[in-house]
Amino acid sequence: MKRGGVWDVITCLAAVLVFLQCSFSAAGLVTCSGIVPMAYRSDKISITDFGAVGDGKTLNTKAFREAIYRIEHLKRRGGTLLYIPPGVYLTESFNLTSRMTLYLAKGAVIQATQDTTNWPLIAPLPSYGRGRERPGGRYMSFIHGDGLHDVIITGENGTIDGQGDVWWNMWRQRTLQFTRPNLVEFKDSRSIIISNVIFKNSPFWNIHPVYCSNVVIRYVTILAPPDSPNTDGIDPDSSSHVCIEDSYISTGDDLVAVKSGWDEYGIAYGRPSNDITIRRLTGSSPFAGIAVGSETSGGVTNVFAEHITLYNTGIGIHLKTNIGRGGIIRNITVSNVFMDKVRKGIKIAGDVGDHPDENYNPNALPVMKHVRIKNVWGENVQQPGLIQGLKNSPFTDICLSNINLFGSSGARNVPWKCADVSGGAVQVSPSPCSELVSSRQTDY
Ligand SMILES: *[C@@H]1O[C@H](CO)[C@@H](O)[C@H](O)[C@H]1NC(C)=O
Ligand SMILES: *[C@@H]1O[C@H](CO)[C@@H](O)[C@H](O)[C@H]1NC(C)=O
Repeated sequence: MKRGGVWDVITCLAAVLVFLQCSFSAAGLVTCSGIVPMAYRSDKISITDFGAVGDGKTLNTKAFREAIYRIEHLKRRGGTLLYIPPGVYLTESFNLTSRMTLYLAKGAVIQATQDTTNWPLIAPLPSYGRGRERPGGRYMSFIHGDGLHDVIITGENGTIDGQGDVWWNMWRQRTLQFTRPNLVEFKDSRSIIISNVIFKNSPFWNIHPVYCSNVVIRYVTILAPPDSPNTDGIDPDSSSHVCIEDSYISTGDDLVAVKSGWDEYGIAYGRPSNDITIRRLTGSSPFAGIAVGSETSGGVTNVFAEHITLYNTGIGIHLKTNIGRGGIIRNITVSNVFMDKVRKGIKIAGDVGDHPDENYNPNALPVMKHVRIKNVWGENVQQPGLIQGLKNSPFTDICLSNINLFGSSGARNVPWKCADVSGGAVQVSPSPCSELVSSRQTDY
C-alpha cells in the first residue's frame, strides 16, 4: 500500500474519534446567535407613512425609496426599523441602507413588479468579470445592499416575493439581455441578519451575500418551483463568517452553494469564502442539497455543514470545480446528513460548470483537499457516489466515514466511481472505490 494511503486512513480514523468526542459537548447547543448582535431600534417608521398601499396593485417604489432615504439621512441613534404591515406591497427594486431593520409583519408581502423594462442595471461583479449568465452588467437584485453594515431583515414570517416567472420565461425563450436579478443581494457589507422571512419565486439566486462578513441567515423559508432555472437558495460568495441554520429551502437549483468567483476574474480578484456554517437545514432540489462551487476561484476554506435533511434531491452533497478555476477548496466537513430519494448521494468533481469566456487559463487547476464527510444515511439513492479528481491535480485527503447509502428496495447495488483521488474510507456502504483506502483492507 502507498504511504499516502496509510496516512490518509490514520488521519481519517483520528478524525472519526475526534468527531465522536466533540459531538458529546456540542450536541444541539450550537447556534448562530451572537455572531451579529440583534440590534434594538427605538426609532420606528411604517411604509404606509410614506404613502404605500398594500393592495397588490399600487406601485410603491417611491414609498420604499423615500422611507430608506429618510433612514439614511435622518440618522437616528441605534438605527431605524421600517415596518411593513399586512398587505401586498408591489414595488420595483430598491436599496437598503445601514443601521436599519426591514420588518415584515405577519401577512406582509413585498412583491416585485413584473414590469422588467426599467429594471436597473449595475456593474458586473469583479470576481465574475461579467454577468453570470449574460455578458456585460447585470440587473440589480430586487432588494439590494451595497457597502452596508448593521442591516436586519426579519419579522413574523412575511414574504419577499420575486414573481420570478417572467424572468424564468425570458431565460427559457433566450430573450434575456442581461443576467437576471437575485432576490436579495448584499455586496461589500457586514453584520447582516436575515431571519423569520419567507422568500418566494426569486428571478435568479435567492440570497446572495458577496464580499461580505458576519452574515446570519436563520429561520428562513425559501421556495421556488423545481423547474425554475437557477433559483439557488443561499449562495455565500467570497464571504466569511456566514452562518445559516434552522431553515427550509425547496427551489429549482442548489439549496446552498458556497462560491468565490469565476475563473480568471475570480483568480485575479482573489477573495475566498471562509468559515461558512450550515446547520439544521431541510429541503429538496433537482440539483444539490449542500454544494461548494462550481465558481470557487478565490478559494473556499472551512465549510462546516451538519444536520442536513434532504428529500427528492438530485445530488445530496456536491463539491464541484473545473479546470481554469484555480482556487483551493479545503477543510470541508459535512456530517449528519439524512437523504431520501436522491439521484446521487455524494459527488466531488473537477469537470463541472462553464467558463466566462475563452480567456480562462486551462492550466489554472483547482485544488481539492481535506474533505470530511461523515454520518450520512441515504435511502432510495440511485447512485452512492462519484469522485472525479483531475489527472494533474488529484483530490487528496478525502475522508468518508460512517456512510450508508441504500438503493431502492430491489434495485441492484450501483458501485461508487472514482478517479484521481486519494483518501480513506471507514464504514462506508456500499463499499467505496479502491482509490479510497478502506479500513477493512488494512491490517494494522
Ligand atoms: C442602488 O444601488 C446601486 C448599486 O450600488 C446604485 O447603482 C443605484 O444608483 C442605487 N439606486 C438608488 C435608487 O439609490
Ligand atoms: C416563523 O418561521 C420559523 C421558521 O420556520 C418558525 O420557527 C417561527 O415560529 C415562525 N414565527 C412566527 C411568528 O410565525
